[in-house]
Amino acid sequence: TEEIILMLVTAYLLGSIPSGVWIGKLFFHIDIRRHGSGNIGTTNTYRVLGPIAGSIVMAMDISKGAVATLLPVFFNNTTFNPLLFGLAAILGHTFSIFDKFKGGKAVATSAGMLLAYKPSFFFLAAGIWILVILLTSMVSLASIIAFPCVTIAIFFIHDTYLFILAAVLTVFIFYRHRTNIKRIINGTENMVPFGLGHIL
Ligand code: G3P
Repeated sequence: TEEIILMLVTAYLLGSIPSGVWIGKLFFHIDIRRHGSGNIGTTNTYRVLGPIAGSIVMAMDISKGAVATLLPVFFNNTTFNPLLFGLAAILGHTFSIFDKFKGGKAVATSAGMLLAYKPSFFFLAAGIWILVILLTSMVSLASIIAFPCVTIAIFFIHDTYLFILAAVLTVFIFYRHRTNIKRIINGTENMVPFGLGHIL
């Protein structure tokens, strides 16, 4: 049991790493929480600091969820479902000990958990996400569409824990995107500079 606590704490601390904030401060001397949407994730990093920084933050945030989910493999301890450690990383990302228990919108970290646990669902989520971005130019809309779609797909593989977690994460991701959803409805949501959203 001591090892399980160590694994949970490791997963939480890993998830807590505010990649966007640290990359911004370290390489650009900019606090992305004070610019754009104020979020610490891939989208706002891309918006404020550009595509290279955005890609690095995306890779880091996906890795946090993936590495945490693989902790049972690294520790050679499979007593508990790996999803538990993925969840700990997601909670770290959204209630970060390095960011006054605030944090991101749970999208990339949740995707990382899927990548480590069931890669096919990661690629399904990524495919839907990219498609919606290309069609609407809105990353937030892509995030809130991709998760319920993947949850429905997961329903059919009869993995009860994964299904429950995906459903809970869908609700949580919607909640975290509540200001985005208001802007989408008002027609004022931020758009990426590419995609069909500008002409449709
Ligand atoms: O994952 C976050 C994304 O869906 C929206 O980010 O910065 O536009 O609120 P942002």
